[in-house]
Amino acid sequence: MNGNLTFTIIKPNAVEKNHSGEIINRIENAGFEIKALKKVKLTRCVAEKFYAVHKDKPFFDSLVSFMSSGPVIVAVLQKDNAVESFRAFIGSTDPAKAAAGTIRKDFGESIEKNAVHGSDSDENAIIEGNFFFSACERV
Ligand code: RTP
Ligand code: MG
Repeated sequence: MNGNLTFTIIKPNAVEKNHSGEIINRIENAGFEIKALKKVKLTRCVAEKFYAVHKDKPFFDSLVSFMSSGPVIVAVLQKDNAVESFRAFIGSTDPAKAAAGTIRKDFGESIEKNAVHGSDSDENAIIEGNFFFSACERV
């Protein structure tokens, strides 16, 4: 059975362009309940730890620089089948390939500056949520 939690980051490009309110609105309208949410600026060290799984990829340094370049909004979301449902909602990693009406299509600027992160598995959703929030910070 699929889990009902996922984790998202509204990335620096979308926060900087004042798109976070509209993105949160769309997230709620799509039926995701916000269980925890905060605005933070990632240090380079925190971004490196969060994306450690990609440390050998050619885009790692650029990704870490981008993700620590300005404030982000991190949130834990709840919905049935949350991980798969949220990834469909945000669209393909590359905004140019994302379906019409998805977050990445509408707010992504490039494969890196693609506006939002979404967990890729139930296991990672829990790990990522715990990375940013303690159990007592969730409603
Ligand atoms: P995310 O983790 O952010 O939800 O995105 P994803 O699963 O769709 O993509 P993933 O492969 O996990 O990549 C993580 C983030 O790295 C940047 N990226 N850049 N330059 C490139 O070829 C490239 N590929 C990926 C993106 O910001 C992507 O979301
Ligand atoms: Mg990913």
